[in-house]
Amino acid sequence: MAFELNWGIISTGFIAQAFVKDLLVDPKTRDVSDVAHKVISVGSRSVESAQKFIDTYAGGDKSIRAFGSYAEVFADPNVKAVYIGTPHTLHYENARDALLAGKHVLCEKATTSNAHELKALLKLAKEKNLFFMEALWTRFQPITREVKRVAEEGNLGDPVVLHADLSGDFDIDNIPTTHRILDPKLGGGALLDLGPYPMIWAVVALYEHPSNQKAYPTSITGSILKTPLTGVDSSTSWTLNFTKHLRAQAILSASITLPASNPGVSIRYRNGNIHIASPIYKPASFTVQYFDKPGSGIVVREETKTFSFVGGGWHFEADEVARCVRDGKLESETWGHDKSILLMEVFDEVRRQGDYKLPEGVEKVFE
Ligand SMILES: NC(=O)c1ccc[n+]([C@@H]2O[C@H](COP(=O)([O-])OP(=O)(O)OC[C@H]3O[C@@H](n4cnc5c(N)ncnc54)[C@H](OP(=O)(O)O)[C@@H]3O)[C@@H](O)[C@H]2O)c1
Repeated sequence: MAFELNWGIISTGFIAQAFVKDLLVDPKTRDVSDVAHKVISVGSRSVESAQKFIDTYAGGDKSIRAFGSYAEVFADPNVKAVYIGTPHTLHYENARDALLAGKHVLCEKATTSNAHELKALLKLAKEKNLFFMEALWTRFQPITREVKRVAEEGNLGDPVVLHADLSGDFDIDNIPTTHRILDPKLGGGALLDLGPYPMIWAVVALYEHPSNQKAYPTSITGSILKTPLTGVDSSTSWTLNFTKHLRAQAILSASITLPASNPGVSIRYRNGNIHIASPIYKPASFTVQYFDKPGSGIVVREETKTFSFVGGGWHFEADEVARCVRDGKLESETWGHDKSILLMEVFDEVRRQGDYKLPEGVEKVFE
C-alpha cells in the first residue's frame, strides 16, 4: 500500500504549475509504487487565481480547496507538507509560517535570501520535529544518480576541474523591472535564480565525492556584473577550491542575458571527462570519455547515456519528500541541510565580493 502525502501549494506561478502537474503524474510511470501524492489545497494572493490554477493544472478537482491566502493553507488540518513556490526573498517568511503551523516543507531554490535565514529555518524545523528540504529537483533525477555512479566508480580517478554554467536569456530589456528576475526586492539576478544549478553539479562531483570526505570548499572567489536596469547581477562567475582532501576546483557561472552553453557541465579528470548536456537542470544525456593513459587527453573510449521519463522531472523530489515524511526523517540524505547551507554560504560570499546588496528590509535574519 503506497504512502500518500497530502500537499498544500503556496503560490500559483510558473514553478507551482510545473510541480503540481508532476504530482498528478501516475507514479507507476516512473516505477514508483511505495509513495503517492494528493493535492489538498492551493493558496494564492487571490482566491480566483487559486481556483483557476486548480481548474487548469489539477483538472478542476473539486476536492482541492482554493484559498485567497497562504495562511489558510498552513491552517488546513488535512495538509501535511507545504510546497513553497514564491520568489526567493519570500521563502523565509513563507517557510517559517508553514513550520510554525506544523507542516513539513519543500521550499524552492534559492532557499532563502541568505544563509542566516536558512539556518534559522532549519533550527525551527528541528525544534518542531518537521522535515525541511530545498527543492533541488535535479539531484533526484535518474541521470544524476548515474553521473554520480560513474564519477565514483574509480575509473576516472579524483576530479580535478569542473566547469558548469547555467544561462538563460530573459530578454531583460523588454520585461518589466518588477519581474522577479530583475527586481532586487525579489532577489533578482542570475546568482540566486540560476546559480543553484552549477552548484548542484559541483556538489555532486566534488563535495559528494568520497575522496572529499564532505569537506566544504576551502576558498570562494566571485565576480559580479550588474545590469544598470535595476542593479541585480546579469552575469556572475565564481570559483570554489576543494583542497582539504582533494586538489579540485569548480569554475561556475550564470547569466540572464545569454542562452545556455552546451555541454553545460564538464567534469575533468586525469583519466577522462564527463560532459553533461544542456539544460543542466534537466539534462537528457551525458557522455563519458576515457583516455588511453592518465593525462594524455587521447580518448580511446566514449560512452553516451540518455534518459527520459514521463512528466517534467519534479516528481522525483516529491517522492523523496514523501518517503522522508513517511519514515519520520527531518532531512533528506540525498539533498541534506549541509548542501543547502553550502549553497547559501557560497551565494552570500559571492554577493559580498561582488557588492550585490539586497535592498534594506529584504533580509530578515542577519546572524
Ligand atoms: N525548480 C525549478 O525548476 C524552478 C524553476 C523556476 C523557478 N524556480 C523558483 O521558484 C520560485 C518562483 O519562480 P517562478 O518562476 O514560479 O515565479 P513566478 O512565475 O513569478 O511565480 C511566483 C508566484 O509567487 C507568488 N508571489 C507572492 N508574492 C509575490 C510577489 N511579491 N511578486 C511576485 N510573485 C509573488 C505569486 O503567486 P500568487 O499570486 O498565487 O500568490 C506568483 O505567481 C523562485 O524562487 C525560483 O527560483 C524554480
